[in-house]
Amino acid sequence: MRTNQPQTIYLKDYRVPVFLVDHVDLRFELFEDGARVHSVLSMRRNPDSDSSDTSVELNSDTLTKLESLSLDGKELGIDAYEDSVDRLVIHDVPDHFELGVVTWLEPQNNTRLEGLYQSSGMFCTQCEAEGFRCITYFPDRPDVMARFRTRIEADKASFPILLSNGNDVEKGDLDGGRHFVTWEDPFPKPSYLFALVAGDLVEKRDSFRTLSGRDIDLRMYVEPRNSDKCDHAMDSLKRAMRWDEEVYGREYDLDIFMIVAVDDFNMGAMENKGLNIFNSSCVLASQETATDMAFQRIESIVAHEYFHNWSGNRVTCRDWFQLSLKEGFTVFRDSQFSADMGSPTVKRIEDATMLRTAQFAEDSGPMAHPVRPESYMEITNFYTLTIYEKGCEVVGMIHTLLGPDMFRKGSDLYFERHDGQAVTTDDFVRAMEDASGRDLSQFRLWYEQAGTPELTVKDEYDQAAGIYRLRIDQRIPDTPGQTNKKPQHIPFAIGLLGADGESLPLKLSATDADEPTDRVLELTEASHTFEFHGVSECPVPSLLRNFSAPVRVYYPWTREQLMFLMSHDPDGFNRWDAGQRLAVDVISGLVGEAGSEAVDSGLTEAYRGLLTDTSLDQALVAKMLQLPSEAYLIELADKPNVPDIHRAREKVLGHLATALRDDLLACYKRNSVEGRYEVTPQAVARRSLRNTALAWLLHTDDEEGRALAESQFAKADNMTDRMGALRALVNSGYEQECKQMLDAFYEQWKADPQVVEQWFAVQAGSSRTGGLSRIRELMSHPAFDWKNPNKIRSVIGVFAGQNLPAFHAEDGSGYRFLEEQVRRLDDSNPQIAARLVSPLTRWRKYAPVHGEQMKKALEAIRDKSGLSRDVYEVVHKSLAGQ
Ligand code: PHE
Ligand code: ZN
Repeated sequence: MRTNQPQTIYLKDYRVPVFLVDHVDLRFELFEDGARVHSVLSMRRNPDSDSSDTSVELNSDTLTKLESLSLDGKELGIDAYEDSVDRLVIHDVPDHFELGVVTWLEPQNNTRLEGLYQSSGMFCTQCEAEGFRCITYFPDRPDVMARFRTRIEADKASFPILLSNGNDVEKGDLDGGRHFVTWEDPFPKPSYLFALVAGDLVEKRDSFRTLSGRDIDLRMYVEPRNSDKCDHAMDSLKRAMRWDEEVYGREYDLDIFMIVAVDDFNMGAMENKGLNIFNSSCVLASQETATDMAFQRIESIVAHEYFHNWSGNRVTCRDWFQLSLKEGFTVFRDSQFSADMGSPTVKRIEDATMLRTAQFAEDSGPMAHPVRPESYMEITNFYTLTIYEKGCEVVGMIHTLLGPDMFRKGSDLYFERHDGQAVTTDDFVRAMEDASGRDLSQFRLWYEQAGTPELTVKDEYDQAAGIYRLRIDQRIPDTPGQTNKKPQHIPFAIGLLGADGESLPLKLSATDADEPTDRVLELTEASHTFEFHGVSECPVPSLLRNFSAPVRVYYPWTREQLMFLMSHDPDGFNRWDAGQRLAVDVISGLVGEAGSEAVDSGLTEAYRGLLTDTSLDQALVAKMLQLPSEAYLIELADKPNVPDIHRAREKVLGHLATALRDDLLACYKRNSVEGRYEVTPQAVARRSLRNTALAWLLHTDDEEGRALAESQFAKADNMTDRMGALRALVNSGYEQECKQMLDAFYEQWKADPQVVEQWFAVQAGSSRTGGLSRIRELMSHPAFDWKNPNKIRSVIGVFAGQNLPAFHAEDGSGYRFLEEQVRRLDDSNPQIAARLVSPLTRWRKYAPVHGEQMKKALEAIRDKSGLSRDVYEVVHKSLAGQ
C-alpha cells in the first residue's frame, strides 16, 4: 500500500552505480507456508563512479521481510542502516565487501505475480523490470551485472523439478524428504533476468546442433496435462535457433536452453537467461486446442524470447529508458523471422494493422511517449506498443535506409562492441552509423519525439514537360510535454502506375541514368518536392509501399484510383491498403446522417473480384476480405460515435453478404478441402477464407450458412474451424443454436484453461451476445478466476477492447463497469489493473456524451484510497491538463 505520492524518475538523472556486484550466491528454502532466501553479494566500488559516497543503496519491496543483514560476516545492528518501504541504505561500507541478506517471502500470497510466486502449485519468478527486489535486497538496476549461483531446496515429492539459470552443477538429497539442486550461470547478467522454477512438471527433451557443432540440450517443462502441447513450440525454437545463426550469425551460448509454461503470468513470456518462462497461452498448442493465429503467435513469441539471448541478455539495457533497445530490436528480429517462415506481405499487413490501430491511438493519447521516454513513474506502464511496435519500426527504417548488408554489418559491430555490456539506444544507432558510414543524427529524433508524423502529399503533372511532381509536407503533432517538433528523417517508398497498370520508371532528373520502378525517397525537411522526369502519362501514385515508415499518409485518391490500385499495385501491401482505404471511405460515408444511403456498388464489385479470381495470392485475398475493424475506424475518426460506426460497418457487411451470397458459398466450398492439418500460409489462408465466407453468410440469416456452420462445428478436427463456426454463430442472431453450442463446447473443454479462455473471449467480444449482464454472468462462472490474468483479459479486457458498442453504451454502463473492475483489481494485481484502464484514457477523443462519463470513471478510480503507483500514473496522466 502506498502512503506518499509516486515519484517521477528522469532519464537526465541517470548516474552510474556507485557499487557493483560481481557475484551473487543465492539459497532458496521453499516451504508450504513461505520461502527463505539467503543471499551473499560480493560488492565493490565502481571505478567509473566519481561519487565519494560511502553508503550503499539497495532496493526492496513490501513483499520482502528482512530477517538479517550482515557485512563481511558481521551482523549489522539497526543503526548501521536505514530501511524504508522500498530502499535500504547501509552506511560506511568499505570498497570491497560481502553483504549477507536473509529475507522471508510468502509466495503463496503473492497476487501481484512479481518476484517469487505460486501458480497452480508450482513456484516461479518474474523479475523484469523490478521484481528481483521483491525477492531480496539488491541494487536492482540493469547496469549492475553479476554472476549468479543459485541453490534451491524443496520437498522432493512435491517439487521434483528445481530450475534456475545456467547449468546444474550439483544436486542431492536432504533430510526430511527434501532435496536440492544448484545452478551456476557463467554469464554476468542483470537481476531482471534471474529465474527460478520449482514444481512437479513433465520434461520434454530435444536437441540442437549449432553451426559450430555444439550440441544444445533443449527442454520444455509443463504440467502433465499439457504434455501433448509442446511440439509446436519446440519446433519453433529449433527454427529460430537456426535462423539466428544464418541471418544474424548468432549462436546459442549455454549447454541447456529451457522453456517453462505457467498459467498465471502478467505478460506473454520472459527471456530469463537459459530459462524462458511463458504464459501457457503463448507456448502450448495442439491442432485441437489452438487456432492458426495462436500457432503463429507462439512461433513468434518463442523466437522473440530466444532472440533476446543476444539482443537483451548478452547486450542489455543501461537503464529502463532504454527498454526499446532490446524490445524494438527483438520485435524487429522476430518479425523478420516470421516473415521468412510464412508470407512476408501478410506479416507486414498484420504488423501495420496493429500499429495503425493501437500504437497510433496510444501516440495521440495522454500516455504518448517517445520510443526512448524521458521520464516515468512506474516502469511497468512502459511496456507499450510504442516501445515494442514503434521501436521495431524504427529499427526497420534503419534496415531500409542501410539495406540488408550494411544493416548486418551494423548489428555485427553492435554485438561485438557491446557484448557483456549494458548500453543505450544511442549506442545501437552509433554502431549502425559506424558500420555503414551513414549519418543518422536526424534519424535519432525517432527515439526522442513522440507522436505519429503526418504526411500530406500533393501532386501535379506537367504533360508538356513530362514531369510529375510530388510534394510531401510532414507535421508531427504535439504530445504531452512536447510541442514544435523538428522534421524527422523518413524513408518513403513509392512507385507510379500508368493507366494500364504498368510501373513507370522513376527518374529523379532529366539525366538520371537510374530508372527503377520502386524507390525509397528520403524525407528530411518539413516540406519536400520530388520531380520525376520522362513521365509519359499522368500516373496514380502508390505511396508508403510496404508501410516503409510508421506515419499517416494523406493523399486524395478517388475511389476509382483505389480500386485500380487494389488490382494493379505490384506492392502487395499497398494493394491491401488501397482496399482498406476504399472500405474506410465507404463505411465512414454511411456514419450518422448518411446512414440510410446505399452502399457503393464499386466496393461490392471489388470484393466480388477478390472472391472469384482464384489466380490471386489467396493469402493476400484472405487479408483483403477483412473489413477495417471498428477499432481502426474509431481511431481514424474525429469525435467518433461508436454505436453509429458499428451500425455503418454492420450495414456494409450485411450488404456485401447479401449481394455476394453465391460467391461466398462458392468460396466456402472451394476452400473446404480436407486433409492433414498444417500451418502453412496456404492452409491458413484457406481456413481464413472459409471462415470469413461463413461469418459473412451468417450475417444475413442465411439458412444454408447456418447449416454449414453447425456441421463445421460438429466435424472440425482443429480449433480454427471449430472456433470459426462458433464465432460466426455467436455473432449472428441464432440464439438457441448458439447457446447449445457454447454449452457443448464448454463441457468438452472445461479442463483446458487455454480453450476456456477462448470460450470466454468469443462471448465477451460479441456485440450480439456480450451485453453487460452476460459479462457479469461470465465473471461469476466457476471457470473465471480473479487471480488469473488470462481470465481477466479474456472477459474484462476483451469486453472493453473489442466489444466496442457495448463498452461505449450511451448510458455509460460500460465505463462504470470497467471502473468497478479496475478498483477491485488494483489491490491484488496493479499491473493488470493499470493495463485495463487504457480504454478510458482516451476520453478526450470522444464526443462529450461519452467523454464526460469516461472522465467520471477515471476520477472515481483516482479517488480510490491506497491506489497503486501503476494505476495512479495512468489515471493522473489521463486527467492532466484540463
Ligand atoms: N521482456 C518480455 C518480452 O518482451 C516481456 C515482459 C516484461 C515479461 C515484463 C514480463 C515482465 O518478451
Ligand atoms: Zn521482448
